[in-house]
Amino acid sequence: MRADLVVVGSGLFGLTVAEQAAARGLDVAIVERRNHLGGNAWSEPDPDTGIEVHRYGAHLFHTSNERVWEYVNRFTGFTDYRHRVWTVHHGEVFPMPINLGTVNQFFRANHGPQAARDLVAAQAAELTGEPKNLEEKAISLIGRPLYEAFVRGYTAKQWQTDPTDLPAEVISRLPVRYTYDNRYFNDRFEGLPTDGYAAWLTRMADHPRITVELETDFLADGHELSRESVRGQVPVVYTGPIDRYFGDAHGALGWRTLDFEREVVATGDFQGAPVMNYADDDVPFTRILEFRHFHPERAYPDDKTVIVREFSRFAEAGDEPYYPVNTPDDRERLLAYRELVEQERSQGVAFGGRLGTYQYLDMHMAIASALRLVDNDLDALIGVRGLS
Ligand code: FDA
Repeated sequence: MRADLVVVGSGLFGLTVAEQAAARGLDVAIVERRNHLGGNAWSEPDPDTGIEVHRYGAHLFHTSNERVWEYVNRFTGFTDYRHRVWTVHHGEVFPMPINLGTVNQFFRANHGPQAARDLVAAQAAELTGEPKNLEEKAISLIGRPLYEAFVRGYTAKQWQTDPTDLPAEVISRLPVRYTYDNRYFNDRFEGLPTDGYAAWLTRMADHPRITVELETDFLADGHELSRESVRGQVPVVYTGPIDRYFGDAHGALGWRTLDFEREVVATGDFQGAPVMNYADDDVPFTRILEFRHFHPERAYPDDKTVIVREFSRFAEAGDEPYYPVNTPDDRERLLAYRELVEQERSQGVAFGGRLGTYQYLDMHMAIASALRLVDNDLDALIGVRGLS
């Protein structure tokens, strides 16, 4: 096997690096632990309904970065899908994120923007002084009534922790929109890949200079693309978990994971919307996704639909790591790992992506960060002295 560059992980970060390196004339070998490429953005038709389901949670593409938008459009067209979310509280449905419609429905009022602003500000003034926990922080931002209805139960379920026991830093802002605009994202460009994520992601790797080895763990020994065989010989861009690379030398970093409970329901439309949050803590799941609504332009069966209930919890060994927990201990460990990452540079190994840097990245951020690595770092990485 001959490669100028080994890319570990075929998520959007790894695929972008691989595609750009191949376009510059390098032979690239991608090593992927799973049985499919594409990382967490992967979607595929549900076997019972044919409805496109996102296997690792709903993925909505949005960006204001023109370079990223131009780049992704080389591999896929996008539908004109615009994301909107609703939430159930005490048996009533409200629009999210909190906007003038939510405020007026909740307070049974018809406030204009300024009156609503004054009301929320007066309620937020209940607490003065430095917030001691997430609950106090949230109340200081949006007041107690809106916090108790829309934030407390949902946050407690997300973190399996009472918000009075969560640090205030978990939230920095809780935006309230003083208009009726309930579009979820503010970005200039938004949409879903017309033929699904699998087609998009597969096209990115469809290059004569790129090979993809599936079901191959870079960190497991005994194959020619393992860390043991490759490190110090061929430059590597590693997008797997940073702590696992170093054998958890400074301890494992904390993640939250999600459990998905899929159900096929005998109706053409279960909830009338793609995402329905459940804000109250007496409902164990955080939300229900109904995937047919992501592609209203497609012909789907009208007598059945597929829904997925989402449950959030702390990840244990073997679970999919989804969202960094980021406790003060995690941050300290991360700093220690970053020193090891610096040392690995001399062996021609660079780290990237959400797992390789322990941070939540939206898809457009992962792509932008991969393009930056190619711009700023690839030549130096390829040129690390002593590597072939
Ligand atoms: P990603 O995790 O996709 O890829 C890493 C790859 O490395 C995986 O395929 C993994 O199997 C592989 N790997 C790990 N260790 C390995 C090893 N030792 N050997 C070989 N391979 C290995 N973004 C957005 O813009 N809009 C959205 O709506 C959402 N929604 C969303 C929902 C949920 C639940 C999550 C967790 C995340 C999102 N995202 C998102 C974020 C999106 O998933 C993220 O931006 C991309 O997955 C980042 O791509 P990466 O390549 O960094 O990681």
